Amino acid sequence: MTEQNEQFQITASGLRVLAPAKINLTLLIAGKRPDGYHDLESIMAKIDYCDQLDFEWGSKPGIELVCDGPFWVPEGPENLVWKAARRVLDTAGKDLPIKITLTKNIPAGTGLGSGSSDAAATLMGLNRLAKLGLSEQQLHDIAASLGSDVNFFLGGPMAFCTGRGEKIRPIPALFPFKVLLILPNVNTSTKRVYENYKHDSSQYSAAAAKINEFLGKNRVDFAAKMCANMLEESCFRLHPDLAAIKKTAAKLMGKDVCLSGSGSAMFCLLDNDDDAAIEHCRDVLRIDFNCVSRRVHNNRW
Ligand code: C5P
Repeated sequence: MTEQNEQFQITASGLRVLAPAKINLTLLIAGKRPDGYHDLESIMAKIDYCDQLDFEWGSKPGIELVCDGPFWVPEGPENLVWKAARRVLDTAGKDLPIKITLTKNIPAGTGLGSGSSDAAATLMGLNRLAKLGLSEQQLHDIAASLGSDVNFFLGGPMAFCTGRGEKIRPIPALFPFKVLLILPNVNTSTKRVYENYKHDSSQYSAAAAKINEFLGKNRVDFAAKMCANMLEESCFRLHPDLAAIKKTAAKLMGKDVCLSGSGSAMFCLLDNDDDAAIEHCRDVLRIDFNCVSRRVHNNRW
């Protein structure tokens, strides 16, 4: 058994894999592509807030997915975990009996990438449990076919992601951070937020120049403080309640609150924790907006 906070643990019945969420410390859109997707430039960072997947041998042929935990997700072939399992077994040419239990601690539709992280955990977990022998490249190829964020979760903990999001340049962990993670009771659709997005090329050029300069100096902290997420306006037009949550939290915390991905989760970087201010902010968000929040750190792996 490895240490509790490492990603893979051998269990009595198989293998347990933790699937951490991410936040987008920055998210710029360079433009729309002919294939309908958008070219991104995003600093993604894993946080220590995880789903859990347990892999074991099933009693009958095929994939059995059981979902557990505080948040509901489908248990059939529409779940990205099920798709990832099917593709990894098909690529290896093996139809093995597999049971996967997904403990869903992270809500879907919040811009924290939990579905993508669960899928990446499935690719790595099954490759190990069933000794499929697939290469890193094969796992990355499957990841890219599953979704734009899945590749990031095969590595990490922090990376500069481009293309659809699937091109990964690791960033050495030079920026340990703590954030107040705000989880509004709202689920966004990534597809709708992108469809509603209006491109602003001058906003992109100005922000990209600064972020590249900061990255060149290894100052991820400066880039993160810019709180640049070009999907925010589109997301808030679709969900005006989120703008009110951001405004309230920013006022109570006395600093910027940033959207992660296509929302609805937001985060506020914490410097020297002012516990009283944080707890007051958490209370107001819970009482006035039915909105849960929690303190999280950057993930170590
Ligand atoms: O790749 P993924 O399935 O996560 O994307 C969901 C939707 O978000 C896509 O169907 C697309 O409409 C939009 N998207 C985009 N550009 C990206 C990533 C996603 O337009 N880089």
